[in-house]
Amino acid sequence: MYSPNEKRYDKMIYRRCGNSGLKISAISFGLWHNFGSDSNFENCRSMIHTAFDSGITNFDLANNYGPNPGDAEINFGRILKQDLAQYRDQLTISSKAGFLMWPGPFGDGGSRKYIIASCDQSLKRMGLEYVDIFYHHRPDPETPVEESMLALDQIVRSGKALYAGISNYPPAQAIKAINILRELKTPFVLNQIPYNIINRYHEDNGLLQLMADEGVGCIIFCPLAQGLLSGRYLNGIPEDSRAVRNRTTYKELLSKNPNAVFTDAQITQEWITILNQLNQIAVKRGQTLAQMAVAWLLSRTGVTSALVGASRPQQIMETVKALDNLVFSREEIDEIEHISRNFK
Ligand SMILES: NC(=O)c1ccc[n+]([C@@H]2O[C@H](COP(=O)([O-])OP(=O)(O)OC[C@H]3O[C@@H](n4cnc5c(N)ncnc54)[C@H](OP(=O)(O)O)[C@@H]3O)[C@@H](O)[C@H]2O)c1
Repeated sequence: MYSPNEKRYDKMIYRRCGNSGLKISAISFGLWHNFGSDSNFENCRSMIHTAFDSGITNFDLANNYGPNPGDAEINFGRILKQDLAQYRDQLTISSKAGFLMWPGPFGDGGSRKYIIASCDQSLKRMGLEYVDIFYHHRPDPETPVEESMLALDQIVRSGKALYAGISNYPPAQAIKAINILRELKTPFVLNQIPYNIINRYHEDNGLLQLMADEGVGCIIFCPLAQGLLSGRYLNGIPEDSRAVRNRTTYKELLSKNPNAVFTDAQITQEWITILNQLNQIAVKRGQTLAQMAVAWLLSRTGVTSALVGASRPQQIMETVKALDNLVFSREEIDEIEHISRNFK
């Protein structure tokens, strides 16, 4: 029987999501990869235990995480029931709707019809009465932002989620969403967006600053650029890495668009050189590259939490040690800036 580490809250940092009262762990754990029907269930279980034992309390899912879509929620639900049921009030669990989930006109996008039905399905798969945060996964160009936000509002008011969130909303749509939710007085906490040392898009377009100014938190997905910003690829491309696994998992999608998914084809020698340059800074700081990448994020404006993934428990143990050194000297910041801005 699983018995959590009693010292799990000693080292983790908990941060308020924007101006709200909700605190989430500075490192969150996501189940996009390695929790589907093709994954070893005991490894999944062990990763969830390791995350919780390390003080991670925020677990992120979506309707479509698999393979097959929905399977990550089913596996997480099993683990919750088996091991964590009595700790439900020590966890924040999120899910999302916004990408293709089922055939026909109501299984994708941002309509009220899709979002509310999808939330019900996610709760059923996880065996939960409510999630803590329910996100609209991406803006839908065919649905007014107002309709999607009213659907989130209804989900919160009916008790199926405690807070609303948005994901992948760029500045113009994010501000619309914020104003609507503010008017409705919907508890709204986070925008979930990609950002890391080598992807500065949402820093450069002002989104992070906007969210900070509006009192909304940002939870950052792919903080390790899907593993690139870790020790994984410093000496080449390992066969058991995500970059290689994706070739089989997304075969059909890749046949239509070879750049649709992160694969080994994108990891050029130039990339490996850049990663090694960044790693040299990490080593001087007494960190691994993964630890430095997470520490760097947590020191940036507007960032509430780094939402990491993993393929094995040891990676989570390594990553959470990022919290041991979150301070960067001016020289380190400048060096990272120089490397990350000069490779394009
Ligand atoms: N809202 C959205 O649209 C959206 C989009 C994408 C992701 N997300 C969320 O963000 C979460 C995280 O995304 P992600 O998995 O791409 O994040 P990530 O942390 O950037 O990448 C995780 C991968 O990095 C490698 N890794 C992790 N820790 C490591 C360590 N200490 N040492 C060496 N390698 C390490 C592993 O790769 P290997 O598998 O090769 O070992 C792992 O699978 C997802 O689970 C999901 O919840 C949201």
